[in-house]
Amino acid sequence: MAAAVAMGAFATPAFAQEVVKIGLIQPMTGPSASTGKQAEAGAKLWMQLHGDTVAGKKIQLIVKDDTGAPDVTKRIAQELVVNDKVNVLMGFGLTPLALAVAPIATQAKIPEIVTSAATAIITEQSPFIVRTSFTLPQATVPMAQWAAKNGIKKVVTLVSDYGPGIDAEKAFKEAFSANGGEVVSELRVPLRNPDFAPFLQRVKDAGPDAVFVFVPSGFGSAFMKQFAERGLTQAGIKLIATGDVTDDDLLNEMGDAALGVVNTHHYSASHNSPENKEFVEAFKKANNFRPNFMAVGAYDGMQLVYKALDKTKGNADGQALIDAMKGLSWTSPRGPVQIDPETRDIIQNIYVRKVEKVNGELYNQEFATIEMVKDPVKAAKKK
Ligand code: PHB
Repeated sequence: MAAAVAMGAFATPAFAQEVVKIGLIQPMTGPSASTGKQAEAGAKLWMQLHGDTVAGKKIQLIVKDDTGAPDVTKRIAQELVVNDKVNVLMGFGLTPLALAVAPIATQAKIPEIVTSAATAIITEQSPFIVRTSFTLPQATVPMAQWAAKNGIKKVVTLVSDYGPGIDAEKAFKEAFSANGGEVVSELRVPLRNPDFAPFLQRVKDAGPDAVFVFVPSGFGSAFMKQFAERGLTQAGIKLIATGDVTDDDLLNEMGDAALGVVNTHHYSASHNSPENKEFVEAFKKANNFRPNFMAVGAYDGMQLVYKALDKTKGNADGQALIDAMKGLSWTSPRGPVQIDPETRDIIQNIYVRKVEKVNGELYNQEFATIEMVKDPVKAAKKK
């Protein structure tokens, strides 16, 4: 009898269930609320355009607000696993939020799809983590190489003082030095309620050719305002950045101070491809605002789940899904992408862009492409 009951329990695994549940956890309130807004819109657009059934399974998306606090993210993830029995956890607008869920993904043996956070080490924290966002070193190395090749010799770096900022600082210095440039000062600004003014004064005093900046999505306009007020441009100091600073969600509000800023990233709303044109048009129609890279990360997170379920013929077992995800490739609105089968990071093009006015609106206009870039930190470890 006991054996029969146990057998029965084993005979109804996730595989047999008709509904596949995806728990999307993002900051919908607080300073990173723009990330949650964009990610939710991106995930829902995927379902609007591709339906809510795949390989015979009904897809259910459950959206939760973690307010950007890691203890809340962790509690919500636990509740989604234990009470809602989700098959996939997705989202994570900041690095500490993604890290907080890693042990839960490992224990529950279900995929944690990181659609937003971008510190390199995240995917190493659980064999169940897969990433559809990017890594800061991936986006930064091309910026350092471009700067060194375009007459910039002395740089001050200025980054938010936590995981992705420190990744950007290190990656910039290494790649810039290797190409003959010199980082003369490295400044770290608190993540919360940053006052950039004293740091920008130090940049001005150091008198470099350029300042390289990383702040996370949602913080770029506060930075840009103070950058313009401090008169760095007038002092002959160029601004170079990762595309997090000139994020499409805020770029239009930044005004002319942002014009001409050269930056590197994996997605621009003005990326010239049929897939992106379709994506941007449908996104704007559904939301009345422009998509940024957080929207694309979540859209591709959903796309990854659909593709994996297709491959497993509807088997939603966590290990089966992770195995199916490794090596998958598709054409994203950002361009061609592949899930690195070894690291579970995303391999993608990084574009060099310049902020320009197009039909009265500011866009990151891509002018050079570095094709299919892997996370350089993990690539270097392997050597
Ligand atoms: C992160 O916390 O990992 C993060 C958040 C926003 C970004 C980039 C990285 O734009």
